[in-house]
Amino acid sequence: MKRITTVKELRCELEPARRNGLRIGLVPTMGALHDGHLSLIRRARQACELVVVSLFVNPMQFNEPTDLEGYPRQQERDSRLAHEAGADILFAPTLEEVYPAGFATSVEVLGITDRLEGAVRGNGHFRGVTTVVTKLLNMTLPDVAFFGQKDAQQVVVIKRLVEDLNLPVQIETCPTVRETGGLAMSSRNAHLSPDERAQALALFCALEAARELAGNGERRSERLLAGARGAMAPFGLEPEYLALVDPETLEDLAELTAPALLAIAARVGATRLIDNVRLEPAVPPADLSQANRSPQLQADPLPHREHPGEARQKAALIAQ
Ligand code: PAJ
Repeated sequence: MKRITTVKELRCELEPARRNGLRIGLVPTMGALHDGHLSLIRRARQACELVVVSLFVNPMQFNEPTDLEGYPRQQERDSRLAHEAGADILFAPTLEEVYPAGFATSVEVLGITDRLEGAVRGNGHFRGVTTVVTKLLNMTLPDVAFFGQKDAQQVVVIKRLVEDLNLPVQIETCPTVRETGGLAMSSRNAHLSPDERAQALALFCALEAARELAGNGERRSERLLAGARGAMAPFGLEPEYLALVDPETLEDLAELTAPALLAIAARVGATRLIDNVRLEPAVPPADLSQANRSPQLQADPLPHREHPGEARQKAALIAQ
């Protein structure tokens, strides 16, 4: 794996790959790599012929100076982990390389950035994210860029940015990686004491409680959110926000009638954590009994399995 710090070197390194039509993947990170990041790198390795991992702690997206100062930095370890996960290039530019003297441009997505994280962190947070992601995409010109569902709103915002600015890149979203017990992996988990780590499970428990209610047929947002809050209470935590929203517009939903996003944020001690799950309305029992009567299912009593006759036919074909 090559370690590169300047845009010029990065372009030189990528030019032959691009000329030969190789598929280039970009995984943007702020470092302190954990299994969540590594799952993105591994996915990029599967999907692309050349994998670039960027590592840049972007001051523009931090709304709290203490969060930026205390952000874990461990480049040697990150470099080894990125290499082991399959990165070809680690692009770790300096602050001056990304924001040289005189830098005066920003990229802003309106509307969807006002909600959830934007409402708490201020609109500067997403302006910082969209500006740096636009720059990283322009520096690398990847075919695909990989982002985690863990930061659900970030993915929605980046997809909007790419569509609105006609950026020639495909955005792929990868599932949230969790620790045993359910805590979503995050670089900020490093700040949690053992007691806080136990308390932080409240976020996952809240999401799971709502998922269980939804699975049992509850569709009213009010009830789903109350269930989630109830599950948090024994941990002594209050959510900073807890919302059932449309997965694209991020508008609040009164009812779960289609797949939706349940998003949560909470402070555990001095550490701010976020998480989310996708909720789907349960199929009501009436619909299930309809489904059982559907001619298609009746004709195939083992819809997910092979018929014995089919298996024999396949065996015969293989034998030929
Ligand atoms: P960072 O927090 O380092 O995250 C980098 C990528 O890893 C993001 O796409 C994030 O969603 C993903 N990720 C983090 N935790 C994850 C988990 N538990 N499971 C799956 N994916 C996870 O997000 C950023 O950096 C920055 O905002 C960035 C996009 C790099 C712009 O500065």
